Amino acid sequence: MDSEGFSGVAQDHSLQPRNYGLLSNFNGHARITGPCGDTMEFWLDVRNGKLKRVSFITDGCGSSRACGSVTTCLVEGRIVEEAASLRQQDILAAIGEFPRESEHCALLSANTLEAACEDYLKRQKGYHIGIFFRELYAGLLCHFHRRRT
Ligand code: FES
Repeated sequence: MDSEGFSGVAQDHSLQPRNYGLLSNFNGHARITGPCGDTMEFWLDVRNGKLKRVSFITDGCGSSRACGSVTTCLVEGRIVEEAASLRQQDILAAIGEFPRESEHCALLSANTLEAACEDYLKRQKGYHIGIFFRELYAGLLCHFHRRRT
């Protein structure tokens, strides 16, 4: 990445991206390919409603690496709903100087994080519905068992 027009934060996160790679234990995930053709993926390990660990990968340029990396640092430890509301402007504000033509990398990063948070919330809903049906089934079994005895 040519350093011209990039803040020190952008250069640092581009050259040494934080939280880069896959998470083996995760309960939220999303993969989005932006209009530029670059793909970004986020993994979330959520515990008690908070992002315990966040990781990402991208096949994009240094700017995408910087945006993904800063995004993970901004949301680690936050509650899921708060993380999902992170916007492109929040990422750009944390990065500092960044070329206008690379700002869409921050949008891709924010969108992928939001989709990963939604994936987590959907999985939780499925989990709760599973518990509901299991309890309903157990209740019906008890009911019929009592009627027969
Ligand atoms: S150039 Fe496409 S996401 Fe960075």
